[in-house]
Amino acid sequence: MVRILDKQFVPFISKERIQQRIIELAKEIDNDYRDLNPLFIAILNGSFIFAADFFRSLTIDAEISFVKLASYSGMESTGTVMQAIGLEQNINSRHVIILEDIVDSGKTLSSFLPELQKDKPRSIKVLALLTKPAALKYGITADYTGFEIPDKFVVGYGLDYDGYGRNLPELYILADQ
Ligand code: IMP
Ligand code: MG
Repeated sequence: MVRILDKQFVPFISKERIQQRIIELAKEIDNDYRDLNPLFIAILNGSFIFAADFFRSLTIDAEISFVKLASYSGMESTGTVMQAIGLEQNINSRHVIILEDIVDSGKTLSSFLPELQKDKPRSIKVLALLTKPAALKYGITADYTGFEIPDKFVVGYGLDYDGYGRNLPELYILADQ
């Protein structure tokens, strides 16, 4: 059990299971993208640890870049997702793979993917460590998923609760109150 701010979390997915699943996902991408020189776009902040471990497990030639997305301006949700740190690469004619820590409602992707489509990449797929199928609201989910999890809050391995918990080496889930 760990405490972060006002909440208690219990162990959920061990670091061994995470690393094992990452190796399987990397093999899948190695097979599907051989000779296609994919460009990975990792979405900050949450995906930085997953992206680092996943990218090191790949063996094919590939590039990686990072964007930071924010759907809030001050205290208000703007409904659109802005690029707080934008993409510098030209994605035209590239095979793009988005790396996400978690797809929850799908809101982030549903506004970011159309932005990317404007630059006419050859293909776009989404690879997410976690998906919450029960929370999907925007009809967009991952093409490659590490683990499907229940609609409950998780922290660790890059994911935060109010900025904390990202450094936990495994995934924790909110304890039943
Ligand atoms: P979506 O736009 O609703 O799909 O949510 C995407 C973003 O919300 C993710 O990239 C995470 O940063 C954050 N998020 C969603 N669920 C969780 C969670 O259980 N723990 C920590 N962050 C989460
Ligand atoms: Mg995120």
